[in-house]
Amino acid sequence: MQLETVLILEHRDYGAGYRLLKVAAPGIAPQVQPGQFVHVRVPRLNDAVLRRPFSVFQAQADTLSILYKTVGRGTAALAALAAGQTVGLIGPLGHGFPLDGPAERVPVLVAGGYGMAALYLVAQRLPRQGMVFVGGCSAQDILGIEDFTALGWPAHIATEDGTRGVRGLVTDVLDAWLGEGRQSRTPEFFACGPNGMLQAVGDRAQAGGWTAWLSVDRHMGCGVGACLTCVVKCKAPDGDWVWVRSCKEGPVFECRQIQWEEES
Ligand SMILES: Cc1cc2nc3c(=O)[nH]c(=O)nc-3n(C[C@H](O)[C@H](O)[C@H](O)COP(=O)(O)OP(=O)(O)OC[C@H]3O[C@@H](n4cnc5c(N)ncnc54)[C@H](O)[C@@H]3O)c2cc1C
Ligand code: FES
Repeated sequence: MQLETVLILEHRDYGAGYRLLKVAAPGIAPQVQPGQFVHVRVPRLNDAVLRRPFSVFQAQADTLSILYKTVGRGTAALAALAAGQTVGLIGPLGHGFPLDGPAERVPVLVAGGYGMAALYLVAQRLPRQGMVFVGGCSAQDILGIEDFTALGWPAHIATEDGTRGVRGLVTDVLDAWLGEGRQSRTPEFFACGPNGMLQAVGDRAQAGGWTAWLSVDRHMGCGVGACLTCVVKCKAPDGDWVWVRSCKEGPVFECRQIQWEEES
């Protein structure tokens, strides 16, 4: 983990209402593992919480990029930055997706919204090819499919209004694929998106006896394990439950670890 002031190389619209921020981060970028995040110091923010967490979308040599949508004051202030300016980052943070699963497993990525940003490096760095399932409310919410297809990963799309791909939820398309018995090997799920989607993927994995790695999204204060704003209820080995910091022990958890009952 490093604290680094980085130069903005590129900052542009990416489609689906998102912006891509690419920075030169020679201290952080080479260390990034898929599913890890950076905590970005937002300029001109007079809050108690000055940083915002974003998944590392791409990392190559000394550069990394994030994809984000403007949803509030922090992301609005971020959107005002231009190439040539600098921004403060802490990273890479958290435990990402493990890529060392057995070779016979078929990697199945499931993304909702900006979850796709957390999953791109999984597809790029896994030594085996899989497929990606992406869902959203409407065609305009479907983000970055071309990045996966450029890697040779087939993409299955679902939108709730049917404006792109199959009409329905991403789990409907996933269920169709699972039900068709097309998988000649065992699926291993890697998912990032809304809680309901994560829980649904986890349910399918548990029903099938498969593994599902879920990246949870919690509000984060410090990003480094000190403030406890990001805790997730997890099952303890003794059958009880414990609060676990998603910024430190997560954000990726195997589905059997998470105690969803009071979470979603
Ligand atoms: C590990 C992690 C990775 C993330 N990766 C990305 C990413 O790749 N791209 C991206 O666009 N966003 C990502 N986020 C969410 C991002 O951090 C929030 O959108 C951002 O902090 C909002 O800041 P703001 O000041 O603009 O919004 P605020 O003014 O703080 O809030 C505006 C609205 O957004 C909601 N919000 C704030 N933080 C979160 C959150 N963490 N999850 C859900 N809703 C939130 C608030 O409840 C409120 O409704 C990630 C979050 C986490 C925890
Ligand atoms: S954000 Fe502070 S402990 Fe996780």
